[in-house]
Formats: sequence, C-alpha cells, structure tokens
Amino acid sequence: MSHDTPFVMPPIMQRAQYASRGPVPQDVIECVEFTLPAPAAGEALVQVLAAPINPSDVLTLTGQYGALPPLPAVGGNEGIGRVLAVGDGVTLPVGTRVVLPLACGTWSSHLLASASALIPLPDEGDAVQLSMLMVNPPTAALLLSEFVTLEPGEWVIQNTANSAVGLYLVQLAKRRGLRTVNVVRRADAIAGVQAAGGDVVLTDGPDLATRVAEATNGAKIRLGIDATGGSATERIARSLMVGGTVVNYGAMSGEACKIAAASFIFRDITLRGFWLAFWFRNATPEQQRALYAELVPLVAHGVLYAPVQRTYPLSAIKDAVIAAATPGRTGKIVLVPE
Ligand SMILES: NC(=O)c1ccc[n+]([C@@H]2O[C@H](COP(=O)([O-])OP(=O)(O)OC[C@H]3O[C@@H](n4cnc5c(N)ncnc54)[C@H](OP(=O)(O)O)[C@@H]3O)[C@@H](O)[C@H]2O)c1
Repeated sequence: MSHDTPFVMPPIMQRAQYASRGPVPQDVIECVEFTLPAPAAGEALVQVLAAPINPSDVLTLTGQYGALPPLPAVGGNEGIGRVLAVGDGVTLPVGTRVVLPLACGTWSSHLLASASALIPLPDEGDAVQLSMLMVNPPTAALLLSEFVTLEPGEWVIQNTANSAVGLYLVQLAKRRGLRTVNVVRRADAIAGVQAAGGDVVLTDGPDLATRVAEATNGAKIRLGIDATGGSATERIARSLMVGGTVVNYGAMSGEACKIAAASFIFRDITLRGFWLAFWFRNATPEQQRALYAELVPLVAHGVLYAPVQRTYPLSAIKDAVIAAATPGRTGKIVLVPE
C-alpha cells in the first residue's frame, strides 16, 4: 500500500453473500461483516457507492442465469465506487469515482480490485443512476444498432417497455430519430413510458398487431424487441412487416419464446437472441470504449435515466431482493451501502 497519506482501514465492512443457490432468492443471500487487507501493489480499495439489483442478479441467486460464479459468492454484477486507498504503483488518484469491474460482487460496502480494471468516472452525475450504467444502457443501444440498420423516422416495437432497458431504449431511439411502439402489460405503466418519450404506448393483448397498425398508420416495422418471451414474442412478430426481425434479450415471463410456424414461413420472420456478455467477448476495446464514451455523459447529465423505486442498505439485502423480484415495481431497486 502507498504510504504517502495516512490511511485507516474502515472499521466495519459489509457484503451480501451466498453459499448456495435456490428457488427463493432472498433465502440464500445474507449480509455479513468482513475485513479486507490493505491494497497490494497494483490494487485499489474502493468504497462502493451504489449497486443495482437487476433481474439477472436474481436469476444468479436462483441458479437460472447463463453464467454462474463459483460458490461462495458475493452478489451483484455492476456498480460504482470511490477509491479510498491504493497500493504501490497505482496512479489512479484517491477520491476518484470509478465504475466497478463487471461481475466482481458489487453488493459490498468495500472491495479490492485491480486498479487497471477500474474505469474513472466524471465527478458530476447521480451515483445511483451511474451505478446502472454498465449493463442496461449498452444493451438498449446495441439492440437498436446490431441487428437491423434503421433509418431516422423508422419505427421499432418493443415489449417490457417500462423496464430499465425499455426506457433507455425509448430515450436512445428518440436521440437517433427513431419512433417507438412500446408494449407494457399493465395500464398503470403507460404514463412512465410516455414520460420517457415513447411515441406509442399500448398494453399487450391478442389484438396487439391491429392496434399497432392503427397507431402507426400501418407503418412497416422491421425490428421488434422482446424481453418477455412466451406468446408475447409472437405478438411482436405479428406486428412486424414481412421479413422483419425479432430480437429476444430476456425471458421475464419465464417461458420460451413462441413464434407460430405461420410467422416464420408465410411472413419470413427471423428470431435472434442478444446477450451483452457475447458482445463484450467479441467487441474490440475501441468499440467498447466508443459505446461507453457515448453513454457515460448521457447518464451523468441525466439525459439517460431509469426510475428508481427505492434504495436499500446492505443490511436489508433480503427485503431488497424481495422488492427486486416483485412484479409491478415503479423503478429499479438499488443498494446504497451505509
Ligand atoms: N441479454 C442481455 O444482454 C441483457 C442485458 C440487460 C438486461 N437483460 C434483460 O432485460 C430484461 C429487463 O431488464 P431490466 O433490468 O431492464 O428490468 P427491470 O427494470 O427490473 O424491469 C423488469 C421488467 O420485467 C417485467 N416483468 C416482470 N415480471 C414479468 C412477467 N412475469 N412477465 C412479463 N413481464 C414481467 C416488468 O413489468 P411490470 O413492471 O409490469 O412488473 C418490467 O417491465 C430482463 O429480462 C433482463 O434479464 C438482458
């Protein structure tokens, strides 16, 4: 550890950890106290400022996610923090706000990380909003750009539109000159999507394609985005033009995507999948830097935002996980260590 300035390790550190996975996520996670050594050469001690609970975090606790860390593990995939102390050879200034490395167990009051894996953040911007920067905003951006090359003025349709990804997608689509048809599953979610800039917001239902055609004056929609799965996927497919593409990136219904043979055969619909983890694996460092160079200022300046229902301290991790797994939320659940 660098000894330029005297530093005393924080007396109490907490983290939310689990030693097994199970069907009831709040049953496996618990808040415990722990200690860390001083940062070694090349490391930084980071105080975590905020870390969200995303659906993928809940699925990681239940064992249903696509990548599961070895046990025991600390929960949390993303978040931001502030550098408290650094080890020898680290030039990152103490006090810098940083993005935490993905999948490092962010539901913790403090953590040690390789300083080179920390991404410095500007000082302006709400910590809670910035803590949700790494996963959902790039997902929304890439869903709009990786599958169909849309021209300004074109429509895109998505379900699960009141989710954080859905709202980021609405905001990014508007900036790109695109128009959005947004599908939610309950009427009281409509106003929030309209407030984010959704051009058309509809509740899901068997006649969705007819209502979409009415609302868009029969627009030929080439891209449909689905995070619900089950029969909702087919309703998105039916709302597209012949030859359209549905991209599935989530399965909030817990069901497999269903698309009728008639949609595949007689309407030439294509179904694709998207996982951000694969994009990270394949994208060059320059592509990754370029994407975050676009997104960080937008989030820092409040141009891109996701509503937050409530923040919780780590000591209330069980309540926080229950809230995150409860449908009908008004926004995200975010952990803010005390
Ligand atoms: N593939 C990727 O790389 C990637 C990256 C990021 C996120 N995702 C996925 O994107 C989806 C949204 O994530 P998020 O963080 O934006 O979500 P979020 O803000 O936590 O919102 C959850 C959404 O899921 C809906 N929902 C909950 N239970 C449902 C059910 N049984 N049937 C249908 N809808 C249901 C909610 O609707 P109500 O408000 O009506 O309950 C809400 O719209 C998740 O599936 C997540 O795993 C995927």
